[in-house]
Amino acid sequence: MNILAIESSCDDTAAAVIENSKVKSNVISSQKFHGEYGGIVPELASRSHTQVIYSIVKKSLEDAKTKINDIDAIAVTSSPGLVGSLMVGSNFAKGLSIKYGLPLIPINHIEGHIFSGNLEDPTLEFPLISLVVSGGHTSIFKVNSFNDYEVLGSTIDDAAGEAFDKIAKMLGMTYPGGPLIDKASKNGDPEFHKFPRPLLDKDNFNFSFSGLKTAVRYFLSNRYPDGDFEKDVDNICASVQRAIVDVLVKKTIKAAQNYKIKNIVIGGGVSANSELRDTMKNEADKIGARLVLPSMDYCIDNAAMIGFLAEEKSKEKDINEFNDLTFVCSPAPIRAKQR
Ligand code: KG4
Ligand code: ZN
Repeated sequence: MNILAIESSCDDTAAAVIENSKVKSNVISSQKFHGEYGGIVPELASRSHTQVIYSIVKKSLEDAKTKINDIDAIAVTSSPGLVGSLMVGSNFAKGLSIKYGLPLIPINHIEGHIFSGNLEDPTLEFPLISLVVSGGHTSIFKVNSFNDYEVLGSTIDDAAGEAFDKIAKMLGMTYPGGPLIDKASKNGDPEFHKFPRPLLDKDNFNFSFSGLKTAVRYFLSNRYPDGDFEKDVDNICASVQRAIVDVLVKKTIKAAQNYKIKNIVIGGGVSANSELRDTMKNEADKIGARLVLPSMDYCIDNAAMIGFLAEEKSKEKDINEFNDLTFVCSPAPIRAKQR
């Protein structure tokens, strides 16, 4: 089975070819220009997707040494994300599906991140705890199989990546600020200032990061009324990063202990964070859990995870039944059940 997968939910245009769960190509084009606006401009994102999607899909076929006629199905991210961006990939995929008479499998972007550990390591077994942490999402999932998972908790306000990006902006950094805070933190003291760890001691798996953003704003204006925080910027970054990582790791480990689950996976752009990776590994070791850390290519937004999951979905029913071209792109995230 050869699947051509397309992902365009936010600011990366990506395409991949998956053959029998193996990644044959994985092409990503990132829209760097949003940095000058301090964040993603949705209209510019969708225009940029339209400009590059044809060449990215073509390259993914070339890299895989595969012809479109050898493809058995198309997979595409249909939700959640920026609707204009999602529509570019979805409409392109619908066009290919019609022209070549191929089944079309719509995939949820967050589900793609949830199962990126299984893409990374096929020996990973269910059940597992999956932390998906990105610019738009922060959730912990209890995953029983490819078709069965539940949200244990999610952020009640900002996503962790959003907190990284907004705090970086306050510190004069460009977008996306997460990787810049990660880099600066390596030279800073995480004990420099203790920023709040919201909901850490609450008996649930929800997160809240908007208070941290406000705490940093007040910290900067109180401690540096003249705006001369530059000399301490590495220390501030390290302290902020420690606060975010602390909550992400403690809640994920608590979920694993609570449900007696021995496999942990992290996914989404923030899972590229070096301190998060190291701390999660240490804490998983302490409770005897196995941690799968997807490689960077599968942490960030990518089409390989979309194609991989589509292949799993195609095992649920006859591939030719994936013929609904009327699906609508939706921004709605996966919601937790009320607990
Ligand atoms: O999953 P992703 O590529 O796109 C979304 O679906 O949001 O995640 C992007 C987010 C951004 O907020 C970015 O700042 C963050 O991931 N990020 C990081 C790091 N690399 C990317 N945050 C902290 N440390 C990093 N090394
Ligand atoms: Zn993502």
